Amino acid sequence: MKFSPLVASVYAALQLSLSSALTISEINGHKYLSPYAGQNVTAVKGLVTAKGPSGFWIKSTTLDLDPRSSNSIYVFSSSAGRNLTVGDIITLDATVLEYRSSSAYIYLTELTTPSNVVRISSGNKVTPIVIGEWLLKWPPTEQFSSLDNWDVFGLPNNASQLSVKNPSLNPLIYGLDFWESLSGELVTVKRPKAVAKPSSFGDTWVTGSWRVSGRNKRGGLTSTDRDSNPEAILIGSPLDGTPNPKTTRLGDDLAEITGIVTQAFGYYRILPLTALSVTGSQSPDVAPVTTFTSGGSCIFLQEIQDDNGATNNGVVSSNLTLSTLIASIYNQSGTTYAYTYISPINLADGGEPGGNIRVAYLYKPTLLRLSPGAQIGGSLDANVVLPGPSLQYNPGRIEPSNAAWTASRKPLAAQWETLDGKNKFFTVNVHFGSKGGSSSIEGDYRPPVNGGIEDREAQANVTAKHSNPSPNYKI
Ligand SMILES: *[C@@H]1O[C@H](CO)[C@@H](O)[C@H](O)[C@H]1NC(C)=O
Ligand SMILES: *[C@@H]1O[C@H](CO)[C@@H](O)[C@H](O)[C@H]1NC(C)=O
Ligand SMILES: *[C@@H]1O[C@H](CO)[C@@H](O)[C@H](O)[C@H]1NC(C)=O
Ligand SMILES: *[C@@H]1O[C@H](CO)[C@@H](O)[C@H](O)[C@H]1NC(C)=O
Ligand SMILES: *[C@@H]1O[C@H](CO)[C@@H](O)[C@H](O)[C@H]1NC(C)=O
Ligand SMILES: *[C@@H]1O[C@H](CO)[C@@H](O)[C@H](O)[C@H]1NC(C)=O
Repeated sequence: MKFSPLVASVYAALQLSLSSALTISEINGHKYLSPYAGQNVTAVKGLVTAKGPSGFWIKSTTLDLDPRSSNSIYVFSSSAGRNLTVGDIITLDATVLEYRSSSAYIYLTELTTPSNVVRISSGNKVTPIVIGEWLLKWPPTEQFSSLDNWDVFGLPNNASQLSVKNPSLNPLIYGLDFWESLSGELVTVKRPKAVAKPSSFGDTWVTGSWRVSGRNKRGGLTSTDRDSNPEAILIGSPLDGTPNPKTTRLGDDLAEITGIVTQAFGYYRILPLTALSVTGSQSPDVAPVTTFTSGGSCIFLQEIQDDNGATNNGVVSSNLTLSTLIASIYNQSGTTYAYTYISPINLADGGEPGGNIRVAYLYKPTLLRLSPGAQIGGSLDANVVLPGPSLQYNPGRIEPSNAAWTASRKPLAAQWETLDGKNKFFTVNVHFGSKGGSSSIEGDYRPPVNGGIEDREAQANVTAKHSNPSPNYKI
């Protein structure tokens, strides 16, 4: 098509007015990636809602009520916001950017290289969205993403990526979609409660005044099959530079939090305006020692190191480690325990180099004993379930030479009875391979990469085969 100069300039003017008409919610769109990524936008209008060390956030003055698209966005610039104050309404030109610091993370939609920043008015009211109280602003409690096929721990892992599929958001069903739909928004969390201890940076997972699933007695959230609690949100570094406390404990109540929803380091997070503050703690403050006196007749221990910890000198015995633990429990509770375990072959079972971690049992010798008649197995003796059923070694390791346990802990099978010999039972103490190499549960890969899953599946198979060798045993 060939334009006359007049038509061409009218067309150019139309283009200009079209692009200048973009609202923040149009820039965000209703998917993970902005439909305008990589493009320049002009005269974007917004109310300054918060300022941070490397930028500021603006919220559209004409709100789009589509629950999928956020009305707010981050403007990345260490200088452009210097003269701005929260409550200013401004217009600016900028480039739309999808930013992430690792390919394993979800992108953050932001505006970068802002220019032509014009203040239209100041002193305007800034109203945060109250999560869990405003209509349609309730976090889903079970599923994370439409790409997880209803199981965030399902297989195959990394079957697709949010950055490639870019699905439409469904914030009523999927937790990641919910938090993405609030990206850049100033929000308030009422009645926050810490559901984990903080990271070394003071980042703390919380829930607020919204419905949660899996609340447990200590105030945490228990994960169950197909419910891994996307309603918990991480609270990151405060925007005013104050540090979050690092002593917050699971179940602590916190003062109301107001901050900006963003995406960084593999997680959605709220950057609070100021540091978290603890207002109350669970009582008693640690799980009571009476655990050892009132229950715990047989305790499964894992990660027990050898007698000189990480020193790599060939020592594999854990007698000193366990007798010290037992003495400490006795000191605190007056309860006497005995222990049993089998040492690994030096350096063969993974964990901290030189530490030779293994599983072990503590038991109350006033109540229980290892069923007599079988000797303790050696490091390489494979336990066998004999007719009876009974165990060939008591305790004994499960197929210690099977390749499934390469650089991993061998399960310890034991047969027990009460001192009168009447009540018999079997236990298997397992410590399967680690999840190292996993990707974030809130990351780009869906379902997330579950590091070492093949190893753990093989280990579970070996354990199951040993523990239930014949349907006749009804174990
Ligand atoms: C956006 O603006 C910058 C600076 O003016 C310019 O260098 C760039 O080419 C523009 N990008 C697009 C996609 O128009
Ligand atoms: C901030 O205001 C000062 C004084 O009016 C001006 O010199 C400076 O250029 C402004 N900075 C920005 C980033 O707008
Ligand atoms: C996930 O899959 C993508 C696309 O095939 C690939 O680029 C990426 O490396 C994979 N990540 C992991 C950790 O396997
Ligand atoms: C550890 O204790 C067990 C049981 O009391 C004993 O048989 C074994 O010899 C001890 N091992 C070492 C290295 O002292
Ligand atoms: C037992 O308690 C006493 C007194 O508090 C302390 O000196 C000792 O170190 C404790 N022993 C162990 C093994 O914890
Ligand atoms: C574990 O056993 C299941 C069921 O028999 C089988 O489908 C799977 O392939 C096995 N996995 C490994 C890693 O051995």
